Amino acid sequence: MEEVTFTRDTILSEVHLHKRQKKHFMVRLNATGQPVFQSVFKIISMNSTLESVSKESDNKKREDTEKEYSSSPEDIQQNDSENVENLVDEDGDLEVTRRPQSFSEKNEQNYARNIVCPTILTIGNEEEYNCEENIYSSPNIVKIEHTMATPLEDVGKQVWRGAFLLADYILWQPDPFRDCTVLELGAGTGFTSIIMAMIAKTVYCTDVGEDLLEMCKRNVSLNKYLTESVGSKVIVKQLDWFKDNFSEDLESPYSWTENDIADLYDHMTVIIAADVIYDDDITDALFKTLYRISHSSRNPCTIYISTEKRFNFTIRHMDITCDAYNHFRRCLEKFENISDGKLKWTAKKIKPTFPQSFNYERIEHLELWEITAVSLT
Ligand SMILES: C[S@@+](CC[C@H](N)C(=O)[O-])C[C@H]1O[C@@H](n2cnc3c(N)ncnc32)[C@H](O)[C@@H]1O
Repeated sequence: MEEVTFTRDTILSEVHLHKRQKKHFMVRLNATGQPVFQSVFKIISMNSTLESVSKESDNKKREDTEKEYSSSPEDIQQNDSENVENLVDEDGDLEVTRRPQSFSEKNEQNYARNIVCPTILTIGNEEEYNCEENIYSSPNIVKIEHTMATPLEDVGKQVWRGAFLLADYILWQPDPFRDCTVLELGAGTGFTSIIMAMIAKTVYCTDVGEDLLEMCKRNVSLNKYLTESVGSKVIVKQLDWFKDNFSEDLESPYSWTENDIADLYDHMTVIIAADVIYDDDITDALFKTLYRISHSSRNPCTIYISTEKRFNFTIRHMDITCDAYNHFRRCLEKFENISDGKLKWTAKKIKPTFPQSFNYERIEHLELWEITAVSLT
């Protein structure tokens, strides 16, 4: 396979576009004929109470990352002025010969994008790939199978920036998750569930569609060395927010047993969801599910939702708007205003100033929300 081709409806996650991996390792075609790739994501830093990465290499990698992504305003100004050569002509008018190079342009150049035509390695080149990434020797490596470009209905087969933001938070602040039972909604490739299982006891990792859930299960199995060593487990299940019940279809390997449901309701204290806000109907269904599940749970749950504001120009507004995000904020407000006498919800935005554990662009439009519940009964 020489080239990845994109059609009009193709959606691409910036995570894969932006990955500085020169080579993409294609492992197979999935049931719908899409090429499946395996990428490795290095954990470059984590909370000191979590073992595995030595502090020294941690700090060095974090410094490198910070250098790559940040620069003080003074640096930017100084560098910009170095690139400007102002000349005054004979009438005293200012002649600007070169446009100052902006921070973002410079940063983009430094962070060479590996866009659209990656070198694709297939099974035959596996040795070259493994050797280059040294993937099987490191306990700070997460291996993820994913597709590179998908139609909208298959977006879960890619890894999204919101998954990294949430994973960063979990690794930075592990205490609220330690030994917990967690439910992930819209888990996609399972990346965040896998990270969560490095700390929690049980993670119910859920999404919809057998093909996606199969990919997710493979990822859980690929990363067993991260989770089994701490005695935790990730259980992949189907959970469709448009349905009022858990799938109990005995034919499906991802259906729920009565024991699973009882275990979830008896022990769950945390619900997570990464980058699931992009369609108003789906957002409505998500909040309905959050309400239904948390009201059946024995313990009040804390919900963490990461989201990325995506701006679009709309003819309706003749402006750039962020409709999906605005709808999310309205749903959040309604959720906080629910007064059913059982639970009282409070939402707060967590400042994304915690360190990055993964190498990705933490853009300003990424947000992390924490929604806490207090029992009123
Ligand atoms: C943009 S992807 C995010 C995937 C993953 N959390 C990540 O951040 O990489 C949105 C996810 O929401 C899931 N989703 C959409 N509608 C859903 C529904 N009705 N029920 C359950 N999951 C749904 C999709 O299948 C997909 O995995």
